Amino acid sequence: MTEVKNLEEMFQAKIDAEQKIEPKDWMPEEYRKNLVRQISQHAHSEVVGMLPEGNWISRAPSLRRKAILLAKVQDEAGHGLYLYSACETLGTSREKTIEDLLSGKAKYSSIFNYPTITWADIGAVGWLVDGAAIMNQVMLTRTSYGPYARAMVRICKEESFHQRQGYEIMSVLAKGTKEQQQMAQDALDRWWWPSLMMFGPNDAESAHSAQSMTWKIKRESNDELRQKFIDRTVQQAEVIGLRIPDSDLKWNESTGHYDFGPIDWDEFWNVVKGNGPCNKARLEARNKAHDEGAWVREAALAYAAKRKERVAA
Ligand code: 3HC
Repeated sequence: MTEVKNLEEMFQAKIDAEQKIEPKDWMPEEYRKNLVRQISQHAHSEVVGMLPEGNWISRAPSLRRKAILLAKVQDEAGHGLYLYSACETLGTSREKTIEDLLSGKAKYSSIFNYPTITWADIGAVGWLVDGAAIMNQVMLTRTSYGPYARAMVRICKEESFHQRQGYEIMSVLAKGTKEQQQMAQDALDRWWWPSLMMFGPNDAESAHSAQSMTWKIKRESNDELRQKFIDRTVQQAEVIGLRIPDSDLKWNESTGHYDFGPIDWDEFWNVVKGNGPCNKARLEARNKAHDEGAWVREAALAYAAKRKERVAA
């Protein structure tokens, strides 16, 4: 018992001294499990997150918009691969992690279970969803687990482009015809509250935050990041003349933040539990893509085995 106690104390001392934990370092099993949970869900979110936007690649309003959206969706695929690789450094198998997604066992971000109804949704997703993701992911560039922190550096650079292109779509529509302005406002109305839910439950209800903060997996809490996102995004909406759909939203001089209305946590948990507008469609699409991609995996594995034989000969 003392041996493990000492190891845990040395581990926490490393965390407190701001040293990165690397794959070959001793770590508490709970630390490893917490990271596998979070990083795998993050990776699943990137991959499922391609679906709402992929829906508009063939319907983008111009070749320029199509090229930008294609680049963004390809980036998300790369982010998923980065994060699945970071997960594997913790001793998980890629096949098992992906099987957990395909079977419906694994979580991914609730936000991707909402439909992209108009082109303005693609703007709202880039602006709000990637904007919220950046808030969280910039913090994760300082997470205590080395591979995760390093994966975040590259991802954040690309995420900034994702947020800017979304905001540009919204600003162009907001300056357009009456119908375009209404389309942009309608998309903001539909994506605002689900974007706030991306940061997770309130701190008081967060199952993992306290331990994740002690281990510096998280540097800021769900509520702190959500507040930062609101404070920044309200001003961006004002600049392009769109209205945040929250009648309780009000600048609070004494706190230096916006007060905002109650989040519908029943909706959040309902979507997390699988009853959102698109949960079923998302899993079906992922399973179909996985089945249709089986020949690529088989060919790649066959090639790798052949190469190994040749090198060994
Ligand atoms: N959707 C689904 N499940 C969620 C959720 C959400 N928005 N927010 C929280 N949860 C789940 C948690 O996974 C946890 O369930 P579990 O125990 O089964 O894993 C439970 O709700 C309790 O939440 P906690 O706050 O205790 O969980 P965490 O400490 O993990 O905090 C988090 C939640 C802030 C999302 C954290 O997991 C995190 O920072 N994850 C990494 C970033 C991430 O995954 N972002 C999602 C979007 S990625 C993205 O948008 C890509 C971009 O390119 C578009």
